[in-house]
Amino acid sequence: MAETKSSAVFLPLLVTLATLVLLALSSLAAAESQETSFATKKLPMTKKKEKLTHLHFYWCNFQRAPTALSVAPILNNATFYGAVTINDDTLTLGPDPDNSTSVGKARGLYHFPSNTTNFVYEMIYSFAFTYGDYNGSSLSLLGSVFPISGKASELTVAGGTGVFRFARGYAALKFASRDPKRNLRVNELDVYVSHY
Ligand SMILES: *[C@@H]1O[C@H](CO)[C@@H](O)[C@H](O)[C@H]1NC(C)=O
Ligand SMILES: *[C@@H]1O[C@H](CO)[C@@H](O)[C@H](O)[C@H]1NC(C)=O
Ligand SMILES: *[C@@H]1O[C@H](CO)[C@@H](O)[C@H](O)[C@H]1NC(C)=O
Ligand SMILES: *[C@@H]1O[C@H](CO)[C@@H](O)[C@H](O)[C@H]1NC(C)=O
Repeated sequence: MAETKSSAVFLPLLVTLATLVLLALSSLAAAESQETSFATKKLPMTKKKEKLTHLHFYWCNFQRAPTALSVAPILNNATFYGAVTINDDTLTLGPDPDNSTSVGKARGLYHFPSNTTNFVYEMIYSFAFTYGDYNGSSLSLLGSVFPISGKASELTVAGGTGVFRFARGYAALKFASRDPKRNLRVNELDVYVSHY
């Protein structure tokens, strides 16, 4: 009688324990499957051939304009040290912004990092194209620009979207013209970008 009673208590306990173990195992499996779905490593790399595209266009950068928001002040008037500007500029096919086909937008910020004699700014930009085969694709450009030295500045193509997925390359940026009345500076860009 006593034996039956104890097994009657023991059995449900065993069932509960087994359920707990099963629950623990299944939650472990769930955690594991969540982790493996975070990064799947077995997708094959694209088999398309890598190609080099040369883009040539102009970046029309208006300063002290509604498209250029100054977010930090100039601390040194000789180098513009400290200044940070957020820009929404236009990219054009030709050098004249008033009479040229728009090929996209240049959005990003530049800041002036030097408090010494170097007049340099650092670009952190996304060039979003709206033209031809490149409509809807973009390139990320980073790098230093030396606006008064007259020499071409070289930027890094850090990546891209759309037809420019997996992009890498560089861009030569050259001063083209300046219109002080409109606070407009036009730069010419030659972008060499490798992509699939
Ligand atoms: C820079 O020049 C402006 C205009 O001349 C002046 O108001 C300002 O105080 C100067 N800033 C510095 C940091 O010297
Ligand atoms: C735009 O460019 C064309 C071709 O170069 C020229 O004929 C025309 O006069 C220009 N228009 C303006 C407003 O500058
Ligand atoms: C920047 O340079 C100016 C002029 O040489 C100097 O007065 C100032 O202290 C410098 N600021 C910093 C943060 O180094
Ligand atoms: C670019 O693509 C957008 C969205 O698909 C479309 O509305 C627009 O007309 C296209 N622009 C050009 C110049 O092809």
